[in-house]
Amino acid sequence: MKKIIALLLSALMVMSLFAGCSKKTGDGGKTSDGDGEKGTIGVCIYKFDDAFMTTYRNSLQEILEGKGYKVSVVDGNNDQAKQNEQINTFISQGVQALIINPVMTSAADQIISTVKDAGIPTVLINREPTADQMAAYDKLVYVGCDAAQSGTFQGELILDTANKGDINGDGKVSYIMIQGDPENIDAQLRTEYSVKALTDAGVEVEQLNLTRGDWDRNRGQEIAANDLAQFGDQIEVIFCNNDDMAIGALQAIQSAGRKVNEDIYLVGVDALDAALNEVKNGNMTGTVLNDAVGQATEAVNQMEKLLGGTTYSEGNQSVYVPYVKVTPDNVGDFMN
Ligand code: BGC
Repeated sequence: MKKIIALLLSALMVMSLFAGCSKKTGDGGKTSDGDGEKGTIGVCIYKFDDAFMTTYRNSLQEILEGKGYKVSVVDGNNDQAKQNEQINTFISQGVQALIINPVMTSAADQIISTVKDAGIPTVLINREPTADQMAAYDKLVYVGCDAAQSGTFQGELILDTANKGDINGDGKVSYIMIQGDPENIDAQLRTEYSVKALTDAGVEVEQLNLTRGDWDRNRGQEIAANDLAQFGDQIEVIFCNNDDMAIGALQAIQSAGRKVNEDIYLVGVDALDAALNEVKNGNMTGTVLNDAVGQATEAVNQMEKLLGGTTYSEGNQSVYVPYVKVTPDNVGDFMN
């Protein structure tokens, strides 16, 4: 049934093109023809129920609408099959360009071949495919951040504490790692580089536990509660791959009667408003700004370049927005 609807929609689009119609048709987009008329942009988000991606998608919508585009933002519900359908629907509706936050990085090949076959300029965001995968299509660009950098900054936040993370003075930093979705390169590289910053600085480390929390606040709370019950005072540092999990972990830390920056350190990534408050109040050691507004701005900028005819080749298909370390000293700069 869906296929039939998609076919009908495509047929309607083709008819409207042959009618020489240069005005926007219903919900359909318009190809870029230099007359400045703006079409519809399809935005696919991996799931709406993600704290960081909520700020990001709101920002994308605001920027695109501010520039006069029509915008359709859809929720993939963390289901790649559903997102594939949404991409196909956007294509059959004739969107002018797509901005896609893939559900699974492993689906990148399929997404890229779909948008390539349709010839739709596409910006991938937040979940970075490999350079090889992206090289398959020259009207494709990735906008995100250098995930390794955020991990390094988390490690540096710990190195900058009075005892470099070794609260109990036993010569090593004992930590637990609460990981995002391990399929995601942000989760992989933050996990690796946060610890690498310590070992590169000559600090001995001991991993007490590593658990996937899938970027989720409740999972962060559960994991930290379990680990605090199991390892108690041995835990000196809790690394969380994002702030939402760190906020969850903070609840567990407080319930366990521990005090951040006194008997335990806690770091996240994103600089969500809630985390900025906790850094300010001394309940988080620090976080790393994952600049949602900066990335949304750059994604739209790259989309417009693609619409203007820019093409990309292997090796220059990723555009990075810098991360920024957030500590009690500079947290005020990031608060509204
Ligand atoms: C953010 C996480 C978010 C994830 C979604 C990461 O870059 O730090 O908060 O859940 O992207 O893919």
